[in-house]
Amino acid sequence: MATIYIDNRPYEVKDGQNLLQTCLTLGFDIPYFCWHPAIHSVGSCRACAVKQFRDEKDTRGKIVMSCMTPASDGTRISIDDPEARHFRATVIEWLMTNHPHDCPVCDEGGECHLQDMTVMTGHTVRRFRFKKRTHRNQDLGPFINHEMNRCIQCYRCVRFYRDYAGGRDLDVLGCHNHVYFGRHEDGVLESEFSGNLVEICPTGVFTDRTLKRHYTRKWDLQTAPSVCVHCSLGCNTISGERYGSLRRMLNRYNHEVNGYFLCDRGRFGYEFVNSSRRMRHILARESRSGRPLAPVGIDEALHRVASLLHFGADVVGIGSPRASLEANFLLRLLVGPERFYAGTPDAEAELVSAIITILREGPARTPSLREARESDAVLILGEDPTTTAPLLSLAVRQAIRREPIDKAKPLGIPEWFDSALRTATENKSGPLFIASPASTKLDDKATLAWRGAPDDIARLGFAIAHELLEDAPAVPHLTEEMRSAARAIATSLRGAKQPLVLSGTGCGSIRVIRAAANIARALSAGGVKAGLCYTVPECNSLGLGHLSGRGLDSLFREIGNKPDRAPETVIVLENNLYRRTTSGAVDELLDKARHVVVIDHTMQATAARADILLPSATFAESSGTLISNEGRCQRFFQVFPPAGEIRQSWQWLLDMLHAAGQTDSMRWEHPDDINRAIAEMVPGLQRVIEAAPGASFRIAGRKIPRQPHRYSGRTSMHADKDIREQRPPDDPDSAMAFSMEGYEGQPPSALIPRYWSPGWNSVQAVSRYQKEVGGQLHGGDPGVRLIEPKDQAKTVFLGDPPEAFEPREDELLVTGLYHIFGSEELSILSPAIAQRMPGPYIGMNREDASRLGISDKEEIELSICGTTIRLAASLRDDLPPGVAGVPSGIKPVIGLVLPAWGKIQKPGKTK
Ligand code: FES
Repeated sequence: MATIYIDNRPYEVKDGQNLLQTCLTLGFDIPYFCWHPAIHSVGSCRACAVKQFRDEKDTRGKIVMSCMTPASDGTRISIDDPEARHFRATVIEWLMTNHPHDCPVCDEGGECHLQDMTVMTGHTVRRFRFKKRTHRNQDLGPFINHEMNRCIQCYRCVRFYRDYAGGRDLDVLGCHNHVYFGRHEDGVLESEFSGNLVEICPTGVFTDRTLKRHYTRKWDLQTAPSVCVHCSLGCNTISGERYGSLRRMLNRYNHEVNGYFLCDRGRFGYEFVNSSRRMRHILARESRSGRPLAPVGIDEALHRVASLLHFGADVVGIGSPRASLEANFLLRLLVGPERFYAGTPDAEAELVSAIITILREGPARTPSLREARESDAVLILGEDPTTTAPLLSLAVRQAIRREPIDKAKPLGIPEWFDSALRTATENKSGPLFIASPASTKLDDKATLAWRGAPDDIARLGFAIAHELLEDAPAVPHLTEEMRSAARAIATSLRGAKQPLVLSGTGCGSIRVIRAAANIARALSAGGVKAGLCYTVPECNSLGLGHLSGRGLDSLFREIGNKPDRAPETVIVLENNLYRRTTSGAVDELLDKARHVVVIDHTMQATAARADILLPSATFAESSGTLISNEGRCQRFFQVFPPAGEIRQSWQWLLDMLHAAGQTDSMRWEHPDDINRAIAEMVPGLQRVIEAAPGASFRIAGRKIPRQPHRYSGRTSMHADKDIREQRPPDDPDSAMAFSMEGYEGQPPSALIPRYWSPGWNSVQAVSRYQKEVGGQLHGGDPGVRLIEPKDQAKTVFLGDPPEAFEPREDELLVTGLYHIFGSEELSILSPAIAQRMPGPYIGMNREDASRLGISDKEEIELSICGTTIRLAASLRDDLPPGVAGVPSGIKPVIGLVLPAWGKIQKPGKTK
């Protein structure tokens, strides 16, 4: 700790931070632009001036930039000094000379950091009488709108985009006072993290283009705390609604998870909620009648469902990794654990179950994203995190700076002095090893980027573990090249203080997952504090994995073995089975079942086969719980109530349970009741109720309002329906209210619907919610970790290193290549994301292509998993010989369970 003096008053502060961060933590108001808690100090905007004094006798002092001055013991500054105040006000006035005075019509207006800082310093009258400098704006693609005239040259955008996120195509260009932040020419921003420019930019240069299409003023948005549903990381978000449609997604700070950032899929994938494919009515038809679905009333629908649930009825429930824990649990309760199936292929269910077991057994612990960012050596085994779990790749980009920063420590440069540290470290990277079937976007930073088939990746992993500790299984017939790679990687990981082993389900290989576990276990056994991080396919894969380890193939097998025992009724929860496995198997199941009930929010192929179709709420209209890949259990809250006949999935299922006479559930009304039952009945999920305060939580007897105090129009916004102001909808299921009324102060971190503080209207207001700026939120970060390794866990190595991959003469091993935009089911329904999707293709090695006589872009037929599809060949250098790659989740590739062997032929030659 250090004692510093601010305007002659002593303060005990954390040593080693800069004065700006320290003063903001203490609650002082100092304007700033170029500094940001995540990208630190560069000293370019000169807005954060304070006066520093040598000692108590010094009365003259000197102006310093608080972001560039350490808060060391004995430091004396004045924030209130007239000269310092004048300096800050003058800087703002300069910045405003060319800034348009367009706040009333600016997209950023009302949530603008420049607006706040201008008011803070008291600049109100423009003295500049000349023509303002203007720029030409660029078309930067479907996510980001560009308005360069608003720029104040703080450099935050390029520092985030290039230095922090590794982007290359945005830069600063210019001559004399025409400093320009943009691309060298119009074009789509390439970085997967470009959306963060919206929050990083302190003015309105980079704004959300998807919001612009259905713009609403920021203070008119009803907002709620949410959790991203587009990958397994569980990044925290704030969803914003107006007039019953979802308008935008913002980052919700969670120090342990996403910090200040989101990926573009998470930020811009939200528009599926507003999709024209949303199901808004209850539909039904006579079972197997072939007649079209027709609207029915809720009573009739529930009556018909109840008739299918009579005592002794054979009902199968198919859950979903994209549905909430509550909904999956209720379906399992309805049909019984033995008739509940994870709605994924067996192969995926097996991988997820294995991951849960490995993480619970330890001794290596799964790190949070913050801990991943702090690692000092990284091994990625069989995964492409940029596409499967994008923010994890952003964490890796920070982790690989750790070793060079540690090496630069003798120079005495504080870690917040970003520009000096980058110069001192020459932007070098620490150890990063990548073993994957295809190239990844992190390759440019890799110490070694190694390509191989999934089995060879597993062999490399097993070999690394064996190099680390001889007790780990040895790999037979290891090549010298693989042995030396394994040795080099093992040496580097062993020498790190906090290495990270990152793997996941991306390769579809249980052996890759086991090999990663062995490496982390060998490191732990050697006394190295290793983190073991697995990515899983969807937002609640780990939640579903706790409820069932049996996938769809188990169900198909059962039907195949006993054709007369096809289930009478199949209930499908938020799942399109045709995306999961081959259409033939799904058709057989749905043909044989006498009744098919589907609960989902969006029309899709499985829903189209339903006899009874119950429209469910999306994440935006419902509340529930998701378990992230870290095992962090987090609650998301509805931002607006579902309209018309739409209900939350758990509400449909609770009604079904009541109809089936399930007595335990009769007393349950709210998600809290369901969560208490989960905690009692599901091993490993005892702490699920701790994820957020329950529905009865109140502060000073009041709920947390979803609408800000500046919300406008509520007396007139429904005047087209009724001239009287409508009563706000009730929310009996949470401690939040669909209203402006409620507790105005800071709620518990899991219930924060927006950031606002007097004088701080932009996202920078988050500083006021943190114990220490850039650190934990008051009261701790949202969510509760459910998976911790056992105390004093024994080191047990997993066996089964595979034989070396043998390419086949007439077939290729086809793996799924994940795409950040396109492979995830829901985000592709958002128009902006759909524009970024690749078309279908099959990537293959040039050697294989020449052997098969195939040229680039030529159309070929791929026979795989009992089906034949046509794809354009894409010849690449990165895929290993004998291995091909197709884009996961993109038509016509959907439904293939990969990796699998496939035969490639020219069209027309298929037998
Ligand atoms: Fe200190 Fe910009 S915030 S110089």
